[in-house]
Amino acid sequence: MSATARKKAPNAEDIRARKRGEPLVSLTAYTTPMARLMDTHCDFVLVGDSVGMVLHGLESTLGVTMEMMILHGQAVARGLDSAMMVIDMPFGSYEHSPADAFLNAARLMAETGAGAIKLEGGVEMAETIRFLVKRGIPVMAHIGLTPQSINTLGGYKVQGRDDQAHAVLADAHAVAEAGAFSVVLEKVPQNLADQITNEVAIPTIGIGASAGCDGQILVVDDMVGFFTAFKPKFVKRYAELGRLAEAAIAEYAAEVRARSFPADEHVFADQAPAKGPKG
Ligand code: KIV
Repeated sequence: MSATARKKAPNAEDIRARKRGEPLVSLTAYTTPMARLMDTHCDFVLVGDSVGMVLHGLESTLGVTMEMMILHGQAVARGLDSAMMVIDMPFGSYEHSPADAFLNAARLMAETGAGAIKLEGGVEMAETIRFLVKRGIPVMAHIGLTPQSINTLGGYKVQGRDDQAHAVLADAHAVAEAGAFSVVLEKVPQNLADQITNEVAIPTIGIGASAGCDGQILVVDDMVGFFTAFKPKFVKRYAELGRLAEAAIAEYAAEVRARSFPADEHVFADQAPAKGPKG
Protein backbone atom coordinates (compact mmCIF):
# COMPACT_ATOMS: atom_id res chain seq x y z
CA MET A 1 0.00 0.00 0.00
CA SER A 2 1.33 3.45 -0.76
CA ALA A 3 2.38 5.56 2.20
CA THR A 4 -0.05 8.36 1.39
CA ALA A 5 -3.01 5.96 1.32
CA ARG A 6 -2.26 4.72 4.84
CA LYS A 7 -4.81 5.98 7.32
CA LYS A 8 -2.83 5.43 10.53
CA ALA A 9 0.44 7.06 9.51
CA PRO A 10 1.18 10.56 10.78
CA ASN A 11 1.67 13.29 8.21
CA ALA A 12 4.12 16.19 8.16
CA GLU A 13 1.84 18.41 10.24
CA ASP A 14 1.47 15.67 12.88
CA ILE A 15 5.26 15.50 13.08
CA ARG A 16 5.52 19.31 13.30
CA ALA A 17 2.97 19.29 16.15
CA ARG A 18 5.26 17.04 18.20
CA LYS A 19 7.58 19.98 18.94
CA ARG A 20 8.46 19.73 22.62
CA GLY A 21 6.20 16.67 22.96
CA GLU A 22 7.12 13.02 23.35
CA PRO A 23 10.43 12.48 21.50
CA LEU A 24 10.04 11.46 17.85
CA VAL A 25 11.51 8.06 17.03
CA SER A 26 12.99 7.40 13.62
CA LEU A 27 15.29 4.99 11.79
CA THR A 28 16.33 4.56 8.20
CA ALA A 29 15.04 1.62 6.16
CA TYR A 30 15.75 0.43 2.63
CA THR A 31 13.85 -2.86 2.36
CA THR A 32 10.37 -4.24 3.04
CA PRO A 33 11.31 -6.69 5.84
CA MET A 34 13.29 -4.08 7.79
CA ALA A 35 10.48 -1.53 7.36
CA ARG A 36 8.00 -4.10 8.75
CA LEU A 37 10.18 -4.64 11.83
CA MET A 38 10.24 -0.94 12.71
CA ASP A 39 6.77 0.13 11.56
CA THR A 40 5.05 0.14 14.94
CA HIS A 41 8.10 1.46 16.82
CA CYS A 42 8.86 4.54 14.72
CA ASP A 43 6.95 7.76 14.10
CA PHE A 44 8.63 8.13 10.73
CA VAL A 45 10.97 6.01 8.67
CA LEU A 46 13.55 7.61 6.40
CA VAL A 47 14.53 6.04 3.11
CA GLY A 48 17.98 7.58 3.42
CA ASP A 49 20.50 8.02 0.64
CA SER A 50 22.81 6.24 3.10
CA VAL A 51 21.41 3.22 1.19
CA GLY A 52 24.28 3.77 -1.24
CA MET A 53 26.92 3.09 1.42
CA VAL A 54 24.94 0.63 3.53
CA LEU A 55 23.48 -1.67 0.86
CA HIS A 56 25.32 -0.87 -2.36
CA GLY A 57 28.90 -0.63 -1.10
CA LEU A 58 29.46 2.94 -2.35
CA GLU A 59 32.13 5.01 -0.61
CA SER A 60 29.84 8.01 -0.17
CA THR A 61 26.24 9.00 -0.88
CA LEU A 62 27.24 10.97 -3.98
CA GLY A 63 26.62 8.09 -6.40
CA VAL A 64 23.03 7.47 -5.30
CA THR A 65 20.49 8.00 -8.10
CA MET A 66 16.78 8.82 -8.32
CA GLU A 67 16.17 5.28 -9.59
CA MET A 68 17.84 3.75 -6.51
CA MET A 69 15.78 5.96 -4.20
CA ILE A 70 12.55 5.09 -5.98
CA LEU A 71 13.22 1.34 -5.91
CA HIS A 72 14.07 1.36 -2.21
CA GLY A 73 11.24 3.78 -1.43
CA GLN A 74 8.73 1.44 -3.05
CA ALA A 75 10.13 -1.50 -1.08
CA VAL A 76 9.93 0.40 2.23
CA ALA A 77 6.39 1.61 1.53
CA ARG A 78 5.27 -2.04 1.24
CA GLY A 79 6.47 -2.65 4.80
CA LEU A 80 4.87 0.38 6.47
CA ASP A 81 1.42 0.76 7.89
CA SER A 82 1.60 3.05 10.91
CA ALA A 83 4.83 5.03 10.44
CA MET A 84 5.22 7.96 8.07
CA MET A 85 7.69 7.54 5.21
CA VAL A 86 10.16 10.31 4.36
CA ILE A 87 12.51 9.93 1.40
CA ASP A 88 15.88 11.55 0.72
CA MET A 89 16.49 13.55 -2.43
CA PRO A 90 19.75 12.24 -3.87
CA PHE A 91 22.77 14.41 -4.70
CA GLY A 92 22.23 16.37 -7.91
CA SER A 93 18.44 16.09 -7.91
CA TYR A 94 17.58 19.42 -6.20
CA GLU A 95 20.54 21.81 -6.00
CA HIS A 96 20.41 23.27 -9.51
CA SER A 97 17.08 25.05 -9.31
CA PRO A 98 13.85 25.04 -7.31
CA ALA A 99 11.99 23.94 -10.46
CA ASP A 100 14.24 20.88 -10.89
CA ALA A 101 13.85 20.14 -7.19
CA PHE A 102 10.07 20.26 -7.55
CA LEU A 103 10.02 17.84 -10.51
CA ASN A 104 12.26 15.34 -8.73
CA ALA A 105 10.51 15.68 -5.36
CA ALA A 106 7.11 15.21 -6.99
CA ARG A 107 8.40 12.12 -8.81
CA LEU A 108 9.82 10.63 -5.59
CA MET A 109 6.53 11.17 -3.76
CA ALA A 110 4.30 10.01 -6.61
CA GLU A 111 6.27 6.85 -7.38
CA THR A 112 6.92 5.76 -3.79
CA GLY A 113 3.99 7.16 -1.80
CA ALA A 114 6.35 8.98 0.61
CA GLY A 115 4.67 11.62 2.76
CA ALA A 116 7.62 14.04 2.58
CA ILE A 117 11.10 14.50 1.15
CA LYS A 118 14.33 15.35 2.94
CA LEU A 119 17.07 17.48 1.45
CA GLU A 120 20.43 18.69 2.73
CA GLY A 121 21.41 22.32 3.19
CA GLY A 122 20.56 25.43 5.19
CA VAL A 123 20.57 29.09 4.15
CA GLU A 124 21.48 28.18 0.55
CA MET A 125 18.49 25.81 0.23
CA ALA A 126 15.90 28.09 1.89
CA GLU A 127 14.54 29.39 -1.42
CA THR A 128 14.10 25.83 -2.71
CA ILE A 129 12.40 24.71 0.49
CA ARG A 130 9.96 27.64 0.25
CA PHE A 131 9.26 26.82 -3.41
CA LEU A 132 8.55 23.16 -2.65
CA VAL A 133 6.40 23.77 0.42
CA LYS A 134 4.26 26.34 -1.42
CA ARG A 135 3.63 23.69 -4.09
CA GLY A 136 2.54 20.95 -1.71
CA ILE A 137 5.80 19.13 -0.97
CA PRO A 138 6.48 18.74 2.78
CA VAL A 139 10.21 19.19 3.39
CA MET A 140 12.40 17.85 6.17
CA ALA A 141 15.65 19.80 6.21
CA HIS A 142 19.07 18.40 7.12
CA ILE A 143 21.85 20.65 8.44
CA GLY A 144 25.14 20.35 10.32
CA LEU A 145 27.10 17.53 8.73
CA THR A 146 25.52 17.09 5.32
CA PRO A 147 27.16 13.98 3.81
CA GLN A 148 26.42 15.00 0.21
CA SER A 149 28.86 17.92 0.78
CA ILE A 150 31.81 15.95 2.18
CA ASN A 151 34.02 17.21 -0.61
CA THR A 152 33.51 20.82 0.44
CA LEU A 153 33.23 20.16 4.18
CA GLY A 154 36.55 18.30 4.17
CA GLY A 155 35.18 15.00 5.47
CA TYR A 156 32.74 13.73 8.07
CA LYS A 157 33.66 16.32 10.74
CA VAL A 158 31.61 17.78 13.58
CA GLN A 159 30.00 20.99 12.29
CA GLY A 160 29.37 24.18 14.25
CA ARG A 161 32.15 24.15 16.81
CA ASP A 162 33.38 27.47 18.25
CA ASP A 163 33.11 30.34 15.76
CA GLN A 164 31.23 28.12 13.25
CA ALA A 165 28.20 27.81 15.54
CA HIS A 166 26.52 30.95 14.19
CA ALA A 167 26.47 29.50 10.65
CA VAL A 168 24.65 26.32 11.74
CA LEU A 169 22.26 28.41 13.86
CA ALA A 170 21.53 30.60 10.83
CA ASP A 171 20.88 27.46 8.76
CA ALA A 172 18.37 26.21 11.34
CA HIS A 173 16.47 29.50 11.37
CA ALA A 174 16.54 29.73 7.56
CA VAL A 175 15.03 26.28 6.96
CA ALA A 176 12.40 26.77 9.67
CA GLU A 177 11.36 30.14 8.25
CA ALA A 178 11.28 28.67 4.73
CA GLY A 179 8.60 26.21 5.85
CA ALA A 180 10.41 22.94 6.61
CA PHE A 181 8.27 20.85 9.00
CA SER A 182 11.32 19.48 10.85
CA VAL A 183 15.10 19.54 10.65
CA VAL A 184 17.73 16.85 11.06
CA LEU A 185 20.80 18.03 13.02
CA GLU A 186 23.74 15.79 12.20
CA LYS A 187 27.01 15.81 14.13
CA VAL A 188 26.74 19.19 15.83
CA PRO A 189 27.90 19.96 19.39
CA GLN A 190 25.35 19.17 22.10
CA ASN A 191 25.04 22.77 23.34
CA LEU A 192 24.42 24.07 19.85
CA ALA A 193 21.81 21.36 19.20
CA ASP A 194 20.06 22.36 22.44
CA GLN A 195 20.17 26.05 21.49
CA ILE A 196 18.68 25.32 18.04
CA THR A 197 16.00 23.11 19.61
CA ASN A 198 15.07 25.94 21.98
CA GLU A 199 15.05 28.63 19.29
CA VAL A 200 13.30 27.09 16.27
CA ALA A 201 9.60 26.30 16.16
CA ILE A 202 9.96 23.00 14.28
CA PRO A 203 11.08 19.63 15.70
CA THR A 204 14.81 18.94 15.63
CA ILE A 205 15.81 15.35 14.87
CA GLY A 206 19.24 14.56 16.23
CA ILE A 207 21.90 12.21 14.92
CA GLY A 208 25.10 12.83 16.80
CA ALA A 209 23.52 15.95 18.33
CA SER A 210 21.76 15.91 21.74
CA ALA A 211 19.25 13.93 23.79
CA GLY A 212 17.49 17.30 24.13
CA CYS A 213 16.45 17.26 20.46
CA ASP A 214 12.76 16.73 19.69
CA GLY A 215 13.57 13.32 18.19
CA GLN A 216 16.37 10.97 17.20
CA ILE A 217 17.31 9.08 14.06
CA LEU A 218 19.93 6.40 13.37
CA VAL A 219 20.89 4.33 10.35
CA VAL A 220 19.29 0.98 11.14
CA ASP A 221 22.15 -1.13 9.83
CA ASP A 222 24.52 0.75 12.16
CA MET A 223 22.42 0.24 15.28
CA VAL A 224 21.72 -3.45 14.72
CA GLY A 225 25.33 -4.17 13.75
CA PHE A 226 24.84 -5.13 10.10
CA PHE A 227 27.03 -2.30 8.77
CA THR A 228 30.46 -2.81 10.29
CA ALA A 229 32.80 -1.02 7.86
CA PHE A 230 33.08 1.75 10.49
CA LYS A 231 31.12 2.95 13.54
CA PRO A 232 30.62 6.68 14.08
CA LYS A 233 30.87 7.79 17.75
CA PHE A 234 27.17 8.72 17.75
CA VAL A 235 26.05 5.18 16.93
CA LYS A 236 24.98 2.88 19.75
CA ARG A 237 25.03 -0.78 18.75
CA TYR A 238 21.84 -2.29 20.13
CA ALA A 239 22.62 -5.69 18.55
CA GLU A 240 25.44 -7.48 16.72
CA LEU A 241 23.40 -9.04 13.91
CA GLY A 242 26.32 -8.94 11.48
CA ARG A 243 28.36 -11.23 13.77
CA LEU A 244 25.37 -13.56 14.27
CA ALA A 245 24.76 -13.75 10.51
CA GLU A 246 28.41 -14.51 9.78
CA ALA A 247 28.48 -17.25 12.41
CA ALA A 248 25.34 -18.78 10.86
CA ILE A 249 26.88 -18.64 7.37
CA ALA A 250 30.10 -20.27 8.63
CA GLU A 251 28.10 -23.07 10.30
CA TYR A 252 26.10 -23.65 7.11
CA ALA A 253 29.29 -23.80 5.03
CA ALA A 254 30.85 -26.32 7.41
CA GLU A 255 27.72 -28.52 7.37
CA VAL A 256 27.49 -28.49 3.56
CA ARG A 257 31.15 -29.51 3.32
CA ALA A 258 30.57 -32.29 5.89
CA ARG A 259 27.35 -33.42 4.10
CA SER A 260 25.43 -32.99 7.38
CA PHE A 261 23.13 -30.46 5.70
CA PRO A 262 20.51 -31.09 4.38
CA ALA A 263 19.44 -33.58 7.08
CA ASP A 264 16.50 -36.03 6.82
CA GLU A 265 13.98 -33.39 7.93
CA HIS A 266 14.97 -31.08 5.04
CA VAL A 267 14.51 -33.57 2.16
CA PHE A 268 11.49 -35.24 0.51
CA ALA A 269 10.47 -38.90 0.29
CA ASP A 270 9.42 -40.16 -3.16
CA GLN A 271 5.90 -40.94 -1.82
CA ALA A 272 3.57 -38.23 -0.41
CA PRO A 273 2.62 -38.77 3.29
CA ALA A 274 -0.74 -40.59 3.75
CA LYS A 275 -3.73 -38.21 4.15
CA GLY A 276 -5.79 -38.21 7.38
CA PRO A 277 -9.55 -39.18 7.55
CA LYS A 278 -10.67 -35.67 6.56
CA GLY A 279 -8.54 -35.74 3.43
O1 KIV B 1 20.73 9.11 4.57
C1 KIV B 1 20.57 9.00 5.79
O2 KIV B 1 20.56 7.89 6.33
C2 KIV B 1 20.38 10.21 6.58
C3 KIV B 1 20.32 10.05 8.06
C4 KIV B 1 21.66 9.76 8.57
C5 KIV B 1 19.73 11.24 8.72
O3 KIV B 1 20.30 11.26 6.06
